[in-house]
Amino acid sequence: MHRRLIAPGALAAASLLLAIPASAAGFQPGAPGIGDPYYPYYGNGGYDVSHYDLRLKYQPQSDELEGTATILARTTQDLSRFDLDFLLDVSEVRVNGAKAAFTTSGQHELVITPATPLPKGTPVTVVVRYSGVPSTKSAYGFTTWHRTPDGAVAADEPESAWWWFPSNDHPLDKATYDVSVAVPDGTQAISNGTLQSTSSKLGWTRYTWRSAKPQATYLATLAIGKFDITTGTTSAGIPVINAYSKDLGDNDGAARASVERTGEIVDWLTGYLGPYPFDSVGGYVPNTTTGYALETQTRVYYSPKQFASGSNTSVVVHELAHQWYGDDVSLKGWKDIWINEGFARYAQWLWSEHEGEGTTQELADYVYASHPADDAFWTVKPGDPGPDNQFDTAVYDRGALAVQALRDAVGDDAFFAILKGWPRDHAYGNASVADFQAYAEKVSGKPLAALFDTWLFQPSKPAASAARTAAVARAATAPVQPRSWKQIEATNFVHQG
Ligand code: ARG
Ligand code: ZN
Repeated sequence: MHRRLIAPGALAAASLLLAIPASAAGFQPGAPGIGDPYYPYYGNGGYDVSHYDLRLKYQPQSDELEGTATILARTTQDLSRFDLDFLLDVSEVRVNGAKAAFTTSGQHELVITPATPLPKGTPVTVVVRYSGVPSTKSAYGFTTWHRTPDGAVAADEPESAWWWFPSNDHPLDKATYDVSVAVPDGTQAISNGTLQSTSSKLGWTRYTWRSAKPQATYLATLAIGKFDITTGTTSAGIPVINAYSKDLGDNDGAARASVERTGEIVDWLTGYLGPYPFDSVGGYVPNTTTGYALETQTRVYYSPKQFASGSNTSVVVHELAHQWYGDDVSLKGWKDIWINEGFARYAQWLWSEHEGEGTTQELADYVYASHPADDAFWTVKPGDPGPDNQFDTAVYDRGALAVQALRDAVGDDAFFAILKGWPRDHAYGNASVADFQAYAEKVSGKPLAALFDTWLFQPSKPAASAARTAAVARAATAPVQPRSWKQIEATNFVHQG
């Protein structure tokens, strides 16, 4: 829709006026960041994306990626110019069909100036044609694009999109995805959601994936390589698709013995967290040298190292719990990371109890007792850890301790109602720690400000009195290490690259 600039009586000039770009008066550039204080340039202002259509072609030998991204968005202000976050080389940009001017700026901004300014509240289609060798690109001196002997993987947090598609790269702007990738015959392309089709032509096989529920950009994943794909279903009928690099060596058996438990673990988590929120589930294990796992939506990323000491169902529980806590309900800002990691870690504690390897209470007591008051562990505030400590062990362990303290304060009935109600109440949306506190207060009928402050926001070890109120640390001496402890902690080393 064009802005009406036509004064009464100027009808003769109307057609001429409409052919001229609307006056730029009042139209402003979109901000280069979405407004996250941890990462000022992540995401962008001025528009909201609803869908990404990515049509790609990848050559594993040379790491050459070429593609066309078609982005459906809506403006949220009168927009003269806007940014996408991206690192590859762009050859053409079109906005609503017309060629647009573009340039780059800062570490990862693609700055687009449409031929005609875009009025607030209107739908916009942006087409970006691009190519490049992702492994040669970096921002802030790092890359998260992982080459493997047979291909590459994009899976990292908080940033992985810049190396393979232009986006509004922040969890606040969730969208649906169609990802279609052509790879040489004999190679597979793995992404999120359901596999809509595969087709082969002239030596190239095209894999077309669909992720049909809102998905944060960092939860979009792409893996190219030689994979063995398995399928199954959960008891509730959710299709399971897993993929294993054909090159996992000695880790192959343990990887499969863990990730093949996906359907069972989704069923088990459903008892605590409610119905699984997506229409597909599974995981993949590429032959990367990384150590971490990531809750990429519907298709979890696992590093082979996670299975180097044998099977590891605990990490599968962690990443699948994120499908509710992190993926279905996403963060408003990166400072809210506790809602993701505190609860995914707590799910591992529940699994430990289920497996008879230590109760949640024993694990909480152990965390409390094993860090003395002068341990730097307590200086990390899980409720606002800062970008440098976003994935610190304390966000996970102190974060899960805070969940146990909440459980002790509100009682089991209210606690499990909160645990299951939160994803239902905020389905496919975004929420903050403050929103979580308000929700827990509503469900439990108890004021919880002091409890949240003590366990999430104070840079110090909660006093023994607070710990006793929360029922943790009942043992006078250091409690014995729960049997599950080493495996749960092993999902930590993993936060290093
Ligand atoms: N959310 C992931 C997990 O808890 C952590 C990813 C950390 N990122 C990294 N590059 N190490 O499993
Ligand atoms: Zn996690």
